[in-house]
Amino acid sequence: MRILAIETSCDETAVALLAFTEKSDATHYRILAEKLYSQSDLHSAYGGVYPSLAKREHQKILPILTKELLAEQSLLQKDPSVQITNTIEHVCVRGPAMLAAIKHHFSETRPTTIDALAVTHGPGLAPALWVGVNFVRVLSLLWDIPIIAVNHMEGHIVSALITDTALITPRYPILALLVSGGHTELVLAQQPGSYQKIGQTLDDAAGEAFDKIARLLGLPYPGGPAVARLAKWAREQHLTAPVTLPRPMLRDNTLDFSYAGLKTAVRVFCEKHPNLTDSEKAALAMECEDAIVETLLKKTQRALEQHHPHSIIVGGGVSANNHLREAFRALVAQYPNTTLHLAHRAHATDNAVMIALTAYSNRTTVDSETLAADANLSFPCGAHE
Ligand code: KG4
Ligand code: ZN
Repeated sequence: MRILAIETSCDETAVALLAFTEKSDATHYRILAEKLYSQSDLHSAYGGVYPSLAKREHQKILPILTKELLAEQSLLQKDPSVQITNTIEHVCVRGPAMLAAIKHHFSETRPTTIDALAVTHGPGLAPALWVGVNFVRVLSLLWDIPIIAVNHMEGHIVSALITDTALITPRYPILALLVSGGHTELVLAQQPGSYQKIGQTLDDAAGEAFDKIARLLGLPYPGGPAVARLAKWAREQHLTAPVTLPRPMLRDNTLDFSYAGLKTAVRVFCEKHPNLTDSEKAALAMECEDAIVETLLKKTQRALEQHHPHSIIVGGGVSANNHLREAFRALVAQYPNTTLHLAHRAHATDNAVMIALTAYSNRTTVDSETLAADANLSFPCGAHE
């Protein structure tokens, strides 16, 4: 089975083509092709993702990336019967530029051997999600290929189970810490697919905190890698933090997080100390990274002690953070019955490979007429213990 997957939930336009085969031991796959265009340079001026700009870029880039990927795989054949119908024009009514690109690249052509189209339908930025969703609806109508709709956060869980050729089968129950630019949540699953959210941020996400703090320090977007680089240098130089920042919500009994106060504390400190030296800035970055990682770690440990999972998964863009990865390795080493699965390095931030893999695990197809983006798509909430 071959799946062509599309991801446009935030500021990465991503396309991937994967081939799957069932073997007795596991599901094996090959990544036949993968393309990713990051818009981060464009959004840098705004210090975060600007939704209407993200939509415009996705509309421009997505048809081109998809066409390139299919052409490079020699999958596109001439077929005069493939025509843009009124229904297709209607799907693209709010995206005339994308319709023009689809007409240009895909009229009178058909790909060979694609069995399903996968697309992220939420959560994410609504204008950005709709581009991927409508693009896939059009391709489905054009080529009569079924669609599998994927929850982006489930994609981040699956990204921690990637190896070169097969998906790891984790031991259940699993506890997942999902840390991205838009989300910070703890998710429990007693069995495959039965996800329950048991903790979440009450305000900013961990990645958002990195991004906002980076802006306060004059660092580029996305802030996480920039803050992490400075923090690493500060650790190597054994610098001392110029201030002790709060570790929000560590003393309460919940599994929830809060990062807005941390960002405010950094803002207040920067306002009081407008002329920080490079070393002071680096030491401050280190303290921010420590505060974020420590709160993620302690809440995960609390969930671990309450729910005794056999697997811990850490996924989402922030899971690329080295300091966090080391801290989680050290934590889980104390629990011999629990295995840690960290997001695959190359697929920790948004990508379409994790969307194809999640689609293959679920394989429930949806109707192109009714498929819609759902910016607030969420796992059901479980009771806090
Ligand atoms: O999962 P992702 O690519 O997109 C969303 O679904 O939001 O996560 C992006 C977030 C950004 O906030 C970025 O600053 C953060 O992940 N990030 C990092 C690192 N790499 C990316 N945060 C800390 N350290 C990193 N190395
Ligand atoms: Zn993401």
